[in-house]
Amino acid sequence: MEYRGYDSAGIAVADGQGAINMAKRAGKLANLEERIAEVGENSLAGCTAIGHTRWATHGRPTDANAHPHMSYDGKVAIVHNGIIENFAPLRAELEAAGISLVSDTDSEVAAHLLARAYNEGETAEDFQASALSVLNRLEGAFTLLFMHADHPDMIIAARRSTPLILGVGEGEMFLGSDVAAFIEFTRNAVELEQDSVVIVHADEYQLMHFDGSKASATPFTIDWDLAAAEKGGFDSFMMKEIHEQPSAVRDTLAGHFHDGRVVLDEQHLTEEELKYIDQVFVVACGSAYHSGLLAKYAIEHWVRIPVQIEVASEFRYRDPVLDERTLVLAISQSGETADTLEAVRHAKSQGAKVLAVCNTNGSQIPRESDAVLYTHAGPEIGVASTKAFLAQVAANYIVGLALAQAKGTKYPDEIAEIYDTLEAIPAKVEELLACEGPVNDIAKELGAIRTMLFLGRGVGFPVALEGALKLKELAYIHAEGFPAGELKHGPIALIEDDLPVVVIVPSPRGVKLLHSKIVSNIQEIRARGAKTIVIAEEGDDAVVPYATWLIRIPETSTIMQPLLATVPLQFLAAEIARQCGNEDIDKPRNLAKSVTVE
Ligand code: M6R
Repeated sequence: MEYRGYDSAGIAVADGQGAINMAKRAGKLANLEERIAEVGENSLAGCTAIGHTRWATHGRPTDANAHPHMSYDGKVAIVHNGIIENFAPLRAELEAAGISLVSDTDSEVAAHLLARAYNEGETAEDFQASALSVLNRLEGAFTLLFMHADHPDMIIAARRSTPLILGVGEGEMFLGSDVAAFIEFTRNAVELEQDSVVIVHADEYQLMHFDGSKASATPFTIDWDLAAAEKGGFDSFMMKEIHEQPSAVRDTLAGHFHDGRVVLDEQHLTEEELKYIDQVFVVACGSAYHSGLLAKYAIEHWVRIPVQIEVASEFRYRDPVLDERTLVLAISQSGETADTLEAVRHAKSQGAKVLAVCNTNGSQIPRESDAVLYTHAGPEIGVASTKAFLAQVAANYIVGLALAQAKGTKYPDEIAEIYDTLEAIPAKVEELLACEGPVNDIAKELGAIRTMLFLGRGVGFPVALEGALKLKELAYIHAEGFPAGELKHGPIALIEDDLPVVVIVPSPRGVKLLHSKIVSNIQEIRARGAKTIVIAEEGDDAVVPYATWLIRIPETSTIMQPLLATVPLQFLAAEIARQCGNEDIDKPRNLAKSVTVE
């Protein structure tokens, strides 16, 4: 689970004889391993345990703030994901009762509240009733796991607006924020409903709502490959995932074009519903947002309806005009991003139809959406998105084509032709992976850099944004993506001798004007001393005189070019990161894979 948070890590184990032992450490999981070696593994022996890797929200990443948190009497251990919004009054209440809190987290209150509920009052001596009483007092978003020293054979777990999956083994059970936690042990999983609780024993579990009434949940089988969640010979998950991009795109496209028609996933909007749509909103965050920008270009071009795009965290705060003829396309690799989930909820409350593009089976965003189109990129562990991004672009294009088909804005043979071009992409990405070595050489020749600019026009602009984001995330270097035409309106003032500027050049076989304009932009920045890293199609000779370095990509149509042009930028960011001494590119500082807080 470390890819979800690596500010600190900890584990608590019930020894079965009335005690809970714990080890925790700030920093990555390796620090916890060292701590466990110090205290001796035997001191953490037991059959019931809870562990946590933290992404700090309240309180700095320190040993004291690491989870699990223990109650004042040493009997209760908890781990928490999310934010307990009313922690301040609860903390004040505990302090007034003479309990001193040892961390700055919002989470610790849950441990003390549970111990108090178990030690006194109506719920005394009743672990389950005590847990339910605490859960009913908490506001905000939380996945909580409770363990009590006097009940070493059980864990009580609950979720509200943050993920929780139960893995059902033989004589053993697992709880995780996602299935990667336990696919090594079982493929049988159960996704809990919102506001529900699971009481877990080694060979059985019981589901209930926060009021104690019976709850249900849908079991599912995990189809992800275990090998896909391991590094497979690469030195990082991210490098492995970059190399998996041909299959990520291929698998995402598979099965979506039959007998001359675009086919959606099982949970889909009907052709009639799609026909009725007269505007689209795209909501997403980070790389998913960049893929959404490409959805806008494609849908407006193919379907001729207006598409607006919004970073999900802004969407519901600006009162967008939505109605039942609006399609909201919610794009999320994890399917758990809180900002995107809230945008989905807002869209639904306004009567819009929501179609999720998601990589994670059974996650919350698809569950709450009217329809879903799954990307089949497999588990993405590297925090910086690579294969999921490419798969999202492919899936967004499927959505665009399905809309064009339903609304009749493209003839079937035109749709078939576009789909053919899309299906040719995986082989081209495969070919392009060979650019890794030359791109790494460029990164080495660049030397120390403080900032880097990325320029693109048309569909090259989202690629520029994605390239800049990868560099920021991995190398911690300031980077910005601009539409190349915007340069002269301000950013050109940043150009100075030796400043590296990446330029994504559209195909000269596409819109001629677009190509010639960007060639002029490269000349302008070269004239001001910048070093240019030019990404251009094979055979595009017009750019050669202005490129300090030239990276060639295979020919494709203009709209498909982002699926290729992004790949060298991923290698570039990863290698610059290594040159800067950031070896662990899978876990960039301050980030987490799934951001389940708003
Ligand atoms: O799981 P999601 O696709 O909803 O995540 C959205 C962003 O948090 C994610 O794309 C993030 O920007 C990545 N770190 C980018 O590399």
